[in-house]
Amino acid sequence: MRRIHVRPLEPGDDDFLREMFVETFFWRDGPQHSLEDVLAIPEAGKYILGWGRPGDAGVVALSDAGEKLGAAWYRLFSTADHGYGFVSDEIPELGIAVMPSYRGRRVGRRLMEDLITLAQGQGRPGLSLSVEDGNSRAARLYESLGFQRVERIGSAWTMVLQLKA
Ligand SMILES: CC(C)(COP(=O)(O)OP(=O)(O)OC[C@H]1O[C@@H](n2cnc3c(N)ncnc32)[C@H](O)[C@@H]1OP(=O)(O)O)[C@@H](O)C(=O)NCCC(=O)NCCS
Repeated sequence: MRRIHVRPLEPGDDDFLREMFVETFFWRDGPQHSLEDVLAIPEAGKYILGWGRPGDAGVVALSDAGEKLGAAWYRLFSTADHGYGFVSDEIPELGIAVMPSYRGRRVGRRLMEDLITLAQGQGRPGLSLSVEDGNSRAARLYESLGFQRVERIGSAWTMVLQLKA
């Protein structure tokens, strides 16, 4: 893999997005899981069902050969209806995953950088996320990009990156 190309998510990426969504919930090494496994987790569906609603946005990374390597995305939630890493109606919560065989090769960093640029371009005041204990690769990536731990919920941290207008 010589170069990584990153572009905005398109409707044709929906199947890949769902695949990457499953990886965010089953990030520990283990057998393959399905979307149905994720949707059985309380609150999980609200992150992906009806993808494409206003405020949904994301990026996908591709190899030179056009193979999809990973994706990062975000969705807005409300005080009345939100998931794990919610902090405000105006700050979208992000998700990210890289194909298992491409992890540790800076694809995730590139996706995060481009997702932050996208959020800035859309005038978002920040980005939030939830990272579980033990997911040190993800936590280190977020911290290195300036995300700060703001709340402890169960065995996870909510982290926020404030963005300048
Ligand atoms: C988390 C994830 C998106 C990171 O993407 P990645 O391409 O593997 O990460 P990168 O290679 O860009 O590394 C980013 C940083 O993570 C850290 N990191 C990388 N490999 C690591 C490892 N084996 N152990 C600990 N930290 C590691 C480093 O700080 C690295 O920074 P660097 O680029 O300065 O070296 C990816 O591993 C993944 O898909 N994991 C499963 C899904 C998941 O956990 N999603 C997040 C849920 S909160």
